[in-house]
Amino acid sequence: MTRKLIRGMKLVVASHNKGKVWEISELLAPYGLNAISAGELGLAEPDETETTFEGNARIKAIAAATGSGLPSLADDSGLEIELLDGAPGVYSANWAGPSKDFGLAMKKVGDEIAARNGWPAPGKADAGPRANFISVLCLAWPDGDCAFFTGKVHGHLVWPPRGGNGFGYDPMFVPDGETRTYGEMDPAEKYAGSHRTRAFAAFKRDCLDQIAPTATAGKIAGRDLQALTAAAASLSTREELAQFVQRLRADLQANGKAWSAKSLDDYFAALQGYLGDMPETKDPQWRMMAKVLLAASLYER
Ligand code: IMP
Repeated sequence: MTRKLIRGMKLVVASHNKGKVWEISELLAPYGLNAISAGELGLAEPDETETTFEGNARIKAIAAATGSGLPSLADDSGLEIELLDGAPGVYSANWAGPSKDFGLAMKKVGDEIAARNGWPAPGKADAGPRANFISVLCLAWPDGDCAFFTGKVHGHLVWPPRGGNGFGYDPMFVPDGETRTYGEMDPAEKYAGSHRTRAFAAFKRDCLDQIAPTATAGKIAGRDLQALTAAAASLSTREELAQFVQRLRADLQANGKAWSAKSLDDYFAALQGYLGDMPETKDPQWRMMAKVLLAASLYER
């Protein structure tokens, strides 16, 4: 029988991919699990040397579980294209090259499909080739015990890629029942039916069935602190900081009563106080700013 997780338990999200860590942390938030990423724990990223999604998920989950002494959840995922016999598949990340350039990876996919005359003729409304995203989750325990959970989402590809949301191959994938690519959809819309959400549903059924989800886990008087904290911890660019500030403003407008600061002067005083107390950080500049802005909204003088 699959081993269960209990509320309050620490769980390592065994990934160094910020998009995935954010998405998995969001999925775990209502279950009161204390999710920490392998990156935050300074765990090394193991080589993915297997040829199956299960094999690679297992390598990542076991490395994190043995390195941290905590149960660890890893995801191995990718894009499978029927016309390319399932490629790029387990090599989806590799197609982006060492610089993880997904513009390059999508161009490679576009070229491989063009070489097989797989794109609709210009001006034709036909859909592009069939494809699916797949996610295999592995929950590993420090003693080596493992359990696997799979989710898929089917759809078709478009060329050229469209939209700037999401990550990886999102701008060229249209899920069935949609006309927009994942890159054009709001992240919440994507997560609602994504391959990872589906794999997570299977994981939840087997491992979290005794934990009742609470809408309030990680929330204080309406403030979704878990989501805000995860967003601050995963951003890297000036544009992402600007989006985060917009999110923080929306939180202030909706839940201002739950902010420690009751006026702008209070907020600046909290900011000043927090800057005096805050621990040393190696965070990149934009992420550090986001964390400081969020911390000041909670800081009690
Ligand atoms: P890995 O699971 O870290 O080995 O990498 C899987 C790769 O598959 C990612 O780097 C992306 O290129 C691709 N991929 C997996 N899930 C998604 C998704 O939700 N959107 C777009 N690309 C994805």
